[in-house]
Amino acid sequence: MLAELCCKRRPGLWRMLAVAVFVALLGCLRAQELRGHVSIVLLGATGDLAKKYLWQGLFQLYLEEAGKGHNFSFHGTALTATEQGQEVVAKVLESLSCPKDVAPARCAELKDQFQRLSQYRQLKTTEDYAALSKDIEALVQREGLWEAGRIFYFSVPPFAYTDIARSINSSCRPGPGAWLRVVLEKPFGHNHLSAQQLATDLGSFFHEEEMYRVDHYLGKQAVAQILPFRDQNRKALDGLWNRHHVERVEIVMKETVDAEGRTSFYEEYGVIRDVLQNHLTEILTLVAMELPPDVGSSEDVLRHKLQVFQALQGLQKGSAVLGQYQAYSEQVRKELDKPAGFLSLTPTFAGILVHLDNLRWEGVPFLLMSGKALDERVGYVRVLFRNRACCAQSEQHRAAEQSACLPRQIVFYIGHGVLGSPAVLVSRNLFRPTLPGGWEQVGGPPGLHLFGCPLSDFYAYSPVREQDAYSVLISRIFHGRKDSFITTENLLASWAFWTPLLDSLAHEAPRLYPGGAENGHLLDFEFSGGQLSFSVQQPEQLVPGPGSAPAPSDFQVLRSTYRDRPLVTAWPEELIAKLADDVEAAAMKAVRRTGQFHLALSGGSSPVALFQQLAMGHYAFPWAHTHLWLVDERCVPLWDPESNFQGLQTHLLQHVRLPHYNVHPMPVHLRQRLCAEEDQGAQAYAEEISALVANSSFDLVLLGMGTDGHTASLFPQSPTGLEGEQLVVLTESPSGPRRRMSLSLPLINRARRVAVLVMGRLKREITLLVSRVGHEPKKWPISGVRPVSGQLVWYMDYEAFLG
Ligand code: BG6
Repeated sequence: MLAELCCKRRPGLWRMLAVAVFVALLGCLRAQELRGHVSIVLLGATGDLAKKYLWQGLFQLYLEEAGKGHNFSFHGTALTATEQGQEVVAKVLESLSCPKDVAPARCAELKDQFQRLSQYRQLKTTEDYAALSKDIEALVQREGLWEAGRIFYFSVPPFAYTDIARSINSSCRPGPGAWLRVVLEKPFGHNHLSAQQLATDLGSFFHEEEMYRVDHYLGKQAVAQILPFRDQNRKALDGLWNRHHVERVEIVMKETVDAEGRTSFYEEYGVIRDVLQNHLTEILTLVAMELPPDVGSSEDVLRHKLQVFQALQGLQKGSAVLGQYQAYSEQVRKELDKPAGFLSLTPTFAGILVHLDNLRWEGVPFLLMSGKALDERVGYVRVLFRNRACCAQSEQHRAAEQSACLPRQIVFYIGHGVLGSPAVLVSRNLFRPTLPGGWEQVGGPPGLHLFGCPLSDFYAYSPVREQDAYSVLISRIFHGRKDSFITTENLLASWAFWTPLLDSLAHEAPRLYPGGAENGHLLDFEFSGGQLSFSVQQPEQLVPGPGSAPAPSDFQVLRSTYRDRPLVTAWPEELIAKLADDVEAAAMKAVRRTGQFHLALSGGSSPVALFQQLAMGHYAFPWAHTHLWLVDERCVPLWDPESNFQGLQTHLLQHVRLPHYNVHPMPVHLRQRLCAEEDQGAQAYAEEISALVANSSFDLVLLGMGTDGHTASLFPQSPTGLEGEQLVVLTESPSGPRRRMSLSLPLINRARRVAVLVMGRLKREITLLVSRVGHEPKKWPISGVRPVSGQLVWYMDYEAFLG
């Protein structure tokens, strides 16, 4: 009523009153905010990481935040007894330093405050956590504050995570209204399964938004600059940051130190788990992701990062080159008490070729490389652009720095190396970049060369104030910037990408290298068609084991017979080369005769090398006239890694130019169902074959032979496909994925030519057995392969044939 009156008679007075009340309220709120107390608990406060980086990072946070409203207490904790721990922490606190731009008097004052706010306490039992919680509450109350939140920094080995997490959750959570942030350090698992297990364990104690998994490379200034740089230079980069312009991306972290003193950790992890799965993969996502409209939005950044994982093409053994410095095995023997003959297979060097399956990056090689005991310590991301310029002006008449003929590159220089500090470098012939405040243009010592160019060819920027990665990240934790950390989804996506490669490399012997500058060109590698290989041959003396093993070239390709049909035997490499030549010859002949070549291919691992050989080395192959059919297929979606079609796609189709309408995958996935009888997929495939392949007679069918004598997906005792009228059948495999679709024996036997490829020692027994049996397809379906009028040729490597 009063307000009504007031409003009607004196509107101006009323407005002033309202503003005053609003200001008072705001003041109240700000005062509340001002008194918000944040407790930071450093678990493992006496450990190496804490001593080297974390205490300094916390001090840095205090320097930045003191006087801005929050109130802090720092609790160093560990299992170490109180007195001993206090001593260690006191020493560390004494050694803390301020950045150069903080005046000494101010620094001393803040350091003194920080020391008074920091204490050490032993934290062992759940009761200890409860007591810590009580002490924090009492402190907050005593000072008339309210609690804003608690940060627990786990600087402890991962095996301790679960117990600590349980204790925090049960006894040390802040009260309602205050946040909890737990900070976790890698390793986060050893493979996908263990990472998932750890994530599930932690997920039972903490909410996703409470967890901050650290990858300290995300705190390196040059790495943290990738997205802001892309954002601020959108206009210039929009047309450039894609497969049409980028020739390749190199993501590199080289170290001179070796693993001595750390072999118990390193022997279990190796360089891929230690560096590539986390640091280099994270960097790759920052380079490759679609730039969100607002790079300041953590959710958007995290979502776009995940999309990169979805676009990563699966890695094969051939995507990697591995090395190990020569002294490593000896260090392992010493440190882990291994017997004299022990040889480790753990790689200390790796080069990996990664491709992405999306419109922006398709075909662009991303090369990831890291290693210990190398010639220099350096980290960088180098985006090298294609250069299509052809300069008419001779070199001495060009304005050198701007010449379009010079290499064009953008480098995020993470640190060390010849520059010695983080930097962003942009070739002058690209564009003049914009960098945010805090970065300044720099020159270098005259004559300095980087990535094939003098430094003067680049616009070069460095941070005005160099900051340690942990300081950057601690500040981001405090500000709740989740995009600088690894979410559970991100972590599992990364492990899902790396685990199959790690499994496939588990028994590979890495190339030995002497270490340091003596490595020479031994670790240089090159890529071609999705494969990596070392550029130079391994010198004899570095090859482990007997050096007298016969090389493939020591043997001739032998021809004889097997089951009364021609047999080609050789070492694998030559066998595949011979088979590829024969396939090409058959293709040429068919195309000459009919204008088309109908080729039916099996899946599995043996033909992979053949596919690669055909894709890489047969430039005259008449792909444009070739129809590709499947011999058999697993009842899984076509994009499933188990799908035979997927294997064909990865190893062959994506490397050759085959008209899409010439590719004939088996219709195992119709109407969202897999191999449902009523969908009549088998009949549909048979009709397609009858319609397109003259007399349903393939020009060439490539088969394999299983250890049980199966061929295609025709297994012993199969009720269908071994005889009868049906051309294509549904079958059951004794092992998963069980349901299959397969060409029938009668259809296979109509082919003009059938090649059976058998490789590896495991096939030895069945090779011997089948050599002796007659026509018994029920027991050994392979024995039923007898083309009616076509030719059958066996291709066996020595291991399968001779054992
Ligand atoms: C760690 C690895 O994550 O990164 C170490 O476990 C490696 O093996 C280290 O030496 C490198 O980090 P930085 O910051 O020294 O480049």
